[in-house]
Amino acid sequence: MTAILTQKHAFLGANVAQKQRSRPLSRGLRAAARAELELKPLPFAHDALEPKISKETLEVHWGKHHRTYVTNLNNQLKDKPLANKNLEEIIVETYNNGSPTPEFNNAGQIFNHDFYWESLSPEKQEPEGELKDAIDRDFGSLDEFKKQFKAAGATQFGSGWAWLTKGKDGKLKVTKTPNAESPLVHGETPLLTMDVWEHAYYIDYQNRRPDYIGEFVENLINWKKVAERYAA
Ligand SMILES: [Fe+2]
Repeated sequence: MTAILTQKHAFLGANVAQKQRSRPLSRGLRAAARAELELKPLPFAHDALEPKISKETLEVHWGKHHRTYVTNLNNQLKDKPLANKNLEEIIVETYNNGSPTPEFNNAGQIFNHDFYWESLSPEKQEPEGELKDAIDRDFGSLDEFKKQFKAAGATQFGSGWAWLTKGKDGKLKVTKTPNAESPLVHGETPLLTMDVWEHAYYIDYQNRRPDYIGEFVENLINWKKVAERYAA
């Protein structure tokens, strides 16, 4: 007789959409139930950020690059026990204390991109309330935060990410990470991220990364989402 096992997975934090799938168990309970990741839709229309970030950029960035990370990780996790963990657990485990396994890059990039899309707003926003108070407390001013965040993005050599992070001491700080790395692997809480891989800006800005960074910091940050993350 063939048993059918369906296992529910909760991908915390990244909110990666998943579809449940049943598969026959041929070797008893040791066989892993498999849940595939799905590419989460963008939280806004593809042309909502124009002209700062074009529809063409999003179609390539989200529709091709992000999609490929999801496809690749699904292939890498096929029939592996790791598939039963949530995305944040997969990231921390595959980071392997600084010696990343092959799955790390795709898992990290899925989390980072979901986090990035939700960090963007079609409408210009400003930080308010407790978040604004914390920025003033830990940076001295919003302008000083912007200065540090822009510098982090501009000085990340090659591909990577700039972050506003809540450190283990509860204080806000600006960090940057290479490639698919994120503050998660350092036990810190990410609040905001900016993708500075060339695929994030090259169609719209070519080599002018500082121009993309300027638009992101001054006009595109979803401060309401950052405040939600800070309060969580
Ligand atoms: Fe990207």
